[in-house]
Amino acid sequence: FAVTAFDANAQTYPDRNITVVVPFAAGGPTDTVTRLVAEAMGKDFGQQIIVENVGGAGGTLGAGRVASSDPDGYTLLLHHIGMATSATLYRKLAYDTLNAFEYVGLVTEVPMTIVGRKDLEPTDLKGLVEYAKANKDTVTVANAGIGAASHLCGMLFMSAIGTPLVTVPYKGTGPAMTDLLGGQVDIMCDQTTNTTKQIQGGTIKAYAVTSENRLDIFPDLPTVTEGGLPDVTVGIWHGLYAPKGTPAEVTERLSKSLQLALQDPNVVARFAELGTTPSPAEDATPAALKEKLEGEVARWKPIIEGAGQFAD
Ligand code: MLT
Repeated sequence: FAVTAFDANAQTYPDRNITVVVPFAAGGPTDTVTRLVAEAMGKDFGQQIIVENVGGAGGTLGAGRVASSDPDGYTLLLHHIGMATSATLYRKLAYDTLNAFEYVGLVTEVPMTIVGRKDLEPTDLKGLVEYAKANKDTVTVANAGIGAASHLCGMLFMSAIGTPLVTVPYKGTGPAMTDLLGGQVDIMCDQTTNTTKQIQGGTIKAYAVTSENRLDIFPDLPTVTEGGLPDVTVGIWHGLYAPKGTPAEVTERLSKSLQLALQDPNVVARFAELGTTPSPAEDATPAALKEKLEGEVARWKPIIEGAGQFAD
């Protein structure tokens, strides 16, 4: 029988370095998660996995780059919940979210924290809500653009307090954190993978976590529900994707490697220090990620349409 070019490739895959696109700036939460996982997958493959940051437009530029890349398993995308929300937030996207990718698997689900600059007056979430309402024309909220996790959480926060605030977009919450530390912006809702070190160091103020339960790393930090804003409860799930047409043998091989990486003691330990946990092996599969993305596109559509915030 004839061996096709794809079969031959799949058998020797990977025989060179792989690139994983992070659709946000370097030094931020998606970058941190991706570099830890990429290093462990690289060890399994005996090939380097290079992280390329393609930030802008809330993650949609990087996702678009991967959607139009060769489906050969050498260009991948690590993106989070924004993959689902941007499908509704953007009236026009350069790719069709549910049909432009093959799935490798779920990676992690990261809690968010509502944080403020160090010298912001309020000391708890209730005080922050009152302060934001009283100063709505001047309080600034950083985010990583429409479609980012920080945008979604900020949108849920503003909707929960019934008050729109002034938003300031960045190419990722890495650079947004720099401005929060410098006092150029007031508040941000960002993943623990970016805020933990700063909260522990006392360089920013933390008001609440968006998880259902308090986190082991911050036992004294209340949940948004405890603070009176249950609708801001949200978890930032991440997935690994390949361009549509990537052979199933390749995505299966990638999924096996992802499962190993998520059990790597260094990955487990670093994730724990950053307030998150790796997805279990049964979720680090193409089927689980496909089901998650499809479910999440459907889940967020009416919520986003209700909020009426769209981008062109
Ligand atoms: C990042 O890596 O910068 C973030 O994931 C941005 C965000 O989605 O808030």
